[in-house]
Amino acid sequence: MIRLPAFAKVNLHLQVVGRRGDGYHELRTVFQTIDLADELEVEIGGDGVTLEVPGAGAPAGAENLAFRAAEAFLQRWAPGTGCHLRLTKRIPAGAGLGGGSSDAAATLLALQRLLATPAPPGELWEVARGLGADVPYFLTGGTALGVGRGDEVTALPDLPERELWLVLPPLEISTREVFAGLGDLTAAPLAPRIGASVQAGKLGWGVLAAGANDLEVVVFERWPLVRRAHRALGEAGATLARLSGSGTALFALFDEQPSPRALRERLPAGCRLERVRTLGRRRLAERLAGRAAADT
Ligand code: C5P
Repeated sequence: MIRLPAFAKVNLHLQVVGRRGDGYHELRTVFQTIDLADELEVEIGGDGVTLEVPGAGAPAGAENLAFRAAEAFLQRWAPGTGCHLRLTKRIPAGAGLGGGSSDAAATLLALQRLLATPAPPGELWEVARGLGADVPYFLTGGTALGVGRGDEVTALPDLPERELWLVLPPLEISTREVFAGLGDLTAAPLAPRIGASVQAGKLGWGVLAAGANDLEVVVFERWPLVRRAHRALGEAGATLARLSGSGTALFALFDEQPSPRALRERLPAGCRLERVRTLGRRRLAERLAGRAAADT
């Protein structure tokens, strides 16, 4: 049995630079792991795949991406083998934090470890991208650049770890709906300052403050509560406040940490506030190895 955390992500920067022939949009995005995590247990045995989600928070059947990840992995690398998944959700769904995608990637990595299957990285990536555009990123983690549908992932030097505030509005929105609401798009390269820093291997928090999320336009217009929460973060002195992915979660950076109470008072009613830390790949690997070693 393996028990491991499936960490969430935020998109520190997200540009939509075009529509693709396959119904997806062409992205330029910077992903970052944060230490908010679901917990996944994987055990080999039984017939086929079974999934348990204590306390719910996600579907327990084939609509769950972790379930589909297990089926895809076993079909390809261990036909006839079954497994049981137990998923404890902490990452809210429909928030742009990649919870379902992270669970799926964690399932692939756990099965690879449990079955000692030498799934070549390229093939594992293929299976991951077949599950969803965000899944491949979670095989890499840390600070990374995503292009294409967001699924062509290149690890970047990890940003210095720091504290972020997450604001979780009481809304779940569909990624598909947000992308469909985009108007005209102008083909553009990675924002010049961010592109130059990435090229030089020197992407920093300061440069990212000058980044953007192109999906904010759609989300802020259709869900005014998210716009109000974003404005409240700016008024509270955030040096960077931005939507993650297609939302509805917002993240914020402060030079001087505000008191949680003062921040909560400014936010629209019903918003959840969480203090999290970013995680680089080294600490991510330590957290994953530590948990697996404790359980096998
Ligand atoms: O791949 P995933 O199932 O996570 O994507 C959900 C939906 O979001 C897609 O069906 C598509 O409508 C939209 N999307 C997009 N361009 C991307 C990623 C997602 O249009 N790069």
